[in-house]
Amino acid sequence: MAEAERSLAQRFAGRIVLVTGAAKGIGAATAQAFASEGATVVLCDIDETALNRTVDTLPGTGHRGVRLDVTSEPDWIAAMSVVEGAFGKLDVLVNNAGWGELRNLFETSFEQWRKVIAINLDSVFLATRHAMPLLEKSGRGSIVNMSSIRGLVVGVGSGPYSAAKAGVHLLTKATAVECAATGKPVRANSIHPGFVDTMLSKDIGEEARNARRAAVPQGRLAEPAEIAAGILFLASDAASYVNGTELVVDGGFTAV
Ligand SMILES: NC(=O)c1ccc[n+]([C@@H]2O[C@H](COP(=O)([O-])OP(=O)(O)OC[C@H]3O[C@@H](n4cnc5c(N)ncnc54)[C@H](O)[C@@H]3O)[C@@H](O)[C@H]2O)c1
Repeated sequence: MAEAERSLAQRFAGRIVLVTGAAKGIGAATAQAFASEGATVVLCDIDETALNRTVDTLPGTGHRGVRLDVTSEPDWIAAMSVVEGAFGKLDVLVNNAGWGELRNLFETSFEQWRKVIAINLDSVFLATRHAMPLLEKSGRGSIVNMSSIRGLVVGVGSGPYSAAKAGVHLLTKATAVECAATGKPVRANSIHPGFVDTMLSKDIGEEARNARRAAVPQGRLAEPAEIAAGILFLASDAASYVNGTELVVDGGFTAV
């Protein structure tokens, strides 16, 4: 292996990385990518069957699956005590879990609104709040929060999801600024994927998927691994001065 390739493969050796929504889609690809580069990964999800399957596919040893509903404060407290007991620190927190559906704003019930806000935005607050002591113990903690192009620009039917993901965008900046202001060695950045080929986008049907392809300058959906690559960059030492900002990975969608 060439020297440059070897050092890239070791970027996360000795680091503890927690990924939410890690059973499937972008979260699973992200857990896979971190494990491939030497990290010990704590994979969290509500879907325990899929979670166990994903944990079993990871390269390396020491990874573990933890059942965690990102909207539950008691679940976060319990998960942090598992991480503290096993590792004593957390180097990287990837708040990936999220969910949305296309629905006319004026046909959205308060209950539906609150579900979207809880999964996408409350979850990031809870994670940040409860993971911070362990991230501080890392001495070089990094938070990567999953937003979306829909946190930057809206589409018809994306109202609650866009409101939640826009909230994630500025909550991330607040986290970065308040960490710096209070002397915590933790960076925070958000990632904004365009249309990614996962179950979340398969749910909309092939016609809508083709319309999305047509709207993207690169003419295709993203692979989950292409989003994971951006997450790993933000979490890595190569991004040591990248803080409170956003990385858009959208095939050019928001450029036109
Ligand atoms: N797919 C896209 O086009 C796209 C685009 C931009 C942003 N995103 C965002 O990327 C993230 C991942 O999306 P995906 O496409 O991989 O979705 P996915 O549906 O393929 O996977 C999401 C995972 O999150 C888990 N999950 C759902 N609710 C949870 C909860 N309450 N607690 C814990 N885990 C939970 C699911 O079980 C699943 O394993 C989401 O935040 C999504 O909003 C996706």
